[in-house]
Amino acid sequence: MKRLLRRFLVFIASVLTISAQAQNLHSDNGTTGLAAPDWENPAVLGINKLPYHATLQLPSKWKECKEIISLDGEWQFHWSRNPQERPVNFYREDFDVRGWDKIKVPGNWQTQGFGTPIYTNIDYPFKRNRPSVTSEPPRDWTAYENRNPVGSYVTFFDVTKEMRSQNLILHFGGVHSAFYVWVNGQKVGYSQNSMSPAEFDVTKYVREGKNKLAVEVYRWCDGSYLEDQDMWRLSGIFREVQLWVRPLVHIADYHVTAVPDKDFTQTNVTADIAICNTAGKSAKKMKAVLKIDGKAIAGQLKKLAAGDTTHIRLTYRINHPRLWSAEKPNLYPFSIELMDKKGNVAEHFDYHLGVKRVECVGEVFKINGKNVKLRGVNRHDHHPLTGRYVDDATYEEDIRLMKQANINFLRTSHYPDREYLYELCDRWGLYVMDEANQESHGYGYANEEMGHDAAWHDAHVDRAESLVKRDFNHPCVILWSLGNEGGVGPNIQAMYDKVCQLDSTRLPFYDCHPRYSALHDFGYPTPEVLKREAEKETEKPLIAREYAHAMGNSMGNLQEYWDVIYADSSIAGAAIWDWVDQGLVKKENGVEYFAYGGDYGDKPNLDAFCINGLLAPDRKPHPHYYEVQHVYQPLQFELHDNQLRIVNRDFFTDVSEYDIVCDTTVINGERLLNVSARLKEDKPWAKKGFVVASEQFVLSPYDFPKVVKTDEKAAAKGASIDGNDLVSWIINGCEMLQAPLEPYFWKPENDNQHAAGFARSSAVWKEATDVTVKYTAINDHSILVELDYHPSGTDKPLLPKLGMRMRLPADFTTIEYYGRGPWENYPDRKRSAFLGRYKMPLAEYETEYVHPQDNGCRTDVRWFSITNGKKTLRIEGLQPLCIRAWDYGEENLEGVRHPHEIQRGRFVNLNIDLNIHGVGGVDSWGQPTLPQYTIDANKPYHYGFILDWQ
Ligand code: GAL
Ligand code: MG
Repeated sequence: MKRLLRRFLVFIASVLTISAQAQNLHSDNGTTGLAAPDWENPAVLGINKLPYHATLQLPSKWKECKEIISLDGEWQFHWSRNPQERPVNFYREDFDVRGWDKIKVPGNWQTQGFGTPIYTNIDYPFKRNRPSVTSEPPRDWTAYENRNPVGSYVTFFDVTKEMRSQNLILHFGGVHSAFYVWVNGQKVGYSQNSMSPAEFDVTKYVREGKNKLAVEVYRWCDGSYLEDQDMWRLSGIFREVQLWVRPLVHIADYHVTAVPDKDFTQTNVTADIAICNTAGKSAKKMKAVLKIDGKAIAGQLKKLAAGDTTHIRLTYRINHPRLWSAEKPNLYPFSIELMDKKGNVAEHFDYHLGVKRVECVGEVFKINGKNVKLRGVNRHDHHPLTGRYVDDATYEEDIRLMKQANINFLRTSHYPDREYLYELCDRWGLYVMDEANQESHGYGYANEEMGHDAAWHDAHVDRAESLVKRDFNHPCVILWSLGNEGGVGPNIQAMYDKVCQLDSTRLPFYDCHPRYSALHDFGYPTPEVLKREAEKETEKPLIAREYAHAMGNSMGNLQEYWDVIYADSSIAGAAIWDWVDQGLVKKENGVEYFAYGGDYGDKPNLDAFCINGLLAPDRKPHPHYYEVQHVYQPLQFELHDNQLRIVNRDFFTDVSEYDIVCDTTVINGERLLNVSARLKEDKPWAKKGFVVASEQFVLSPYDFPKVVKTDEKAAAKGASIDGNDLVSWIINGCEMLQAPLEPYFWKPENDNQHAAGFARSSAVWKEATDVTVKYTAINDHSILVELDYHPSGTDKPLLPKLGMRMRLPADFTTIEYYGRGPWENYPDRKRSAFLGRYKMPLAEYETEYVHPQDNGCRTDVRWFSITNGKKTLRIEGLQPLCIRAWDYGEENLEGVRHPHEIQRGRFVNLNIDLNIHGVGGVDSWGQPTLPQYTIDANKPYHYGFILDWQ
């Protein structure tokens, strides 16, 4: 019976392969005939693709590696809005492409002027009707007219006589989303799975001299149903194209692992090297060699038949290994060599090994035996000019800025990045959650449709396999993520099994169900919920793969999260959403700005929801970047009875490895102690002296003016008061107020508040009520201002702010103040901003967010001055003040989509407040600012300040 069943299964399998092949024959490149095209058929993931394998050569060495020929550069290009209109025969040798456009490879075609970038989150950008990507969407969608754009690419490359006798492999680092390849008019193959390499053996298609390479890329394919990540939807050959010239017998793959034993005293290095023979005859007496730690370990290959692949396993023991961690990224450089029977080196690859152990011990996540905390961030591969292609220099800048911000954990949301990024993480030290390119959010979070549909089984597994196989040898990888916001069911189980089968040295992770994950995920909790969840979970460590949504002016209450995380050993850590604002540079009528959803007329779109970064698109840090740097710092300082106590949150770095510097300064009588921990030596990501951790302590506090002596006779002469307002103030015959000083409780929203409906719920505060202001002249150039708020009811909504506003002439553009800075800070985001005396132009005092919103606050301001060079207005608080200054008004900021649309420069807007509503820091879809950072309008308030013209 069993045998019968097996035979039957074999029969089915062979019918399936025959039908798949038949279909490939009939459908050519997909658009003719009755069969579904390859790109709308989830059973066809590739045709003639070589197996996935590890990155063989360290990416930083690609340029100098003689077997790698780069085909990057300017190619000929033709864009069609749908498959029917594409130039079908362009791959033929007699097809003349000289009149075509040019395009840069690598690159996206939308960022080079072809077609429309679309920013969508959960909605598929095409009509959801799997596996079709060309069904009719609503008429106003971008995909209605452009039903599946096709990019036709042509380039030419030279092959020498010497190369002809070798094995030639065409390598595509990443192509979005599906493509066919022809060489010299002959069809080579097909691939999808956009974020992983695709390789084809082109040996038999090339000839000596000039060769024509034609690539036809489809914007969408059935694979796009698994690529529904919240990001710009861009297309094309966006990663490098290479021709690898390999010996006929060569190293097809290698995996090197080294997990230390329980007490970390030794480790076995294991190298599994796959050798394949692409020659027509068998190979004899070859040798595979692992060179590591000054030793060479060799394995003999007696005979390898033509067309075969074999594995050689080599082992080597290291005693007292130097362990790899993000703190101490110790690497063992090694090389893998293949030697022919004469002892000549046929192939040589350089790589590096990190010895480490990653494990969950009960509910505790451990690296090298320690309960390391993952201080994380999520990052999309995004560049404002080149879209999905991010060059090496930007990678270096990103990883440098992460290291400088004390980030130790990077999630490559939501797909594998380019290989060089991982090499940087290996070398400079970042733990990486490497994520498979799998998201079917358009069917719902944890959906069963994609997770259960057997037709999509292989497509899921393909994405797990391509992930693990490519990045296997990177020490930085600690977790393999099966994807994000995808399905649940057998297809995910199969991904999980595949990951576990391929690699037992790292842990699997999945957000949609803990069944497929070594860690339990909880996304976007409040600090309180995080605490509660961690207490509930007893089986597995808890992680927040995403938290602290950094959209716009955000990232409040970060320290509150980390108080919870440090207090509970079952929390592995958390990763901020996300690293960089995904804005694209757009030029319009001579202005350049960062575009987001809808700016290209793209539909559907989700507006500014892709602008969630710690950095602007051009990598300029936002103020909240510095808050992350501070809260994530490995050392924390406490001052008790004049004794400095240092808490070290790291495990593999001693405090003595830093210079601890203590500085006492006195500003206007206030004594401050500034403590910092500085690098004792240069690191690849920062110079010696770089401040890794810092804290400020107030030793003797500021003496705010209490009793103000007034001189009735010397009443401020030019000042006129009308009710609560100071309506005019003439100094030397000039009106100094462009608008009165008045009680003003309104402030524009930031993105978080917008999502939480704050403007709606606090709308009554567009008018300040229940308030009285008293003005007392101190002398002929200064006035004491005192505001009293006495609520008349008990059910008033939260106050946006409590304070006053005035407008000065536009030329008051130089600011100096004593308060928290230098960067913007709010009540719930001010730990990184130390008290100090700061001077800056108004333009720097404001913060320019990609999506304009409330900004620029400085808290705990003791005094503030603003000058036009001739006259200076000094504001002295009777208690700490919150001050915002802009060269535009609230009305100019609200409803504006981009900074260049703000009408500026007609006056200087000053808000002088007792307090302001915090920015919030949980999510941007409804969570309010934490209660301790809001202003209860059902309580009385009193505050005051002195205005003084000098
Ligand atoms: C998460 C998702 C991210 C992004 C974020 C909101 O749930 O995983 O891809 O969409 O929400 O910015
Ligand atoms: Mg999503």
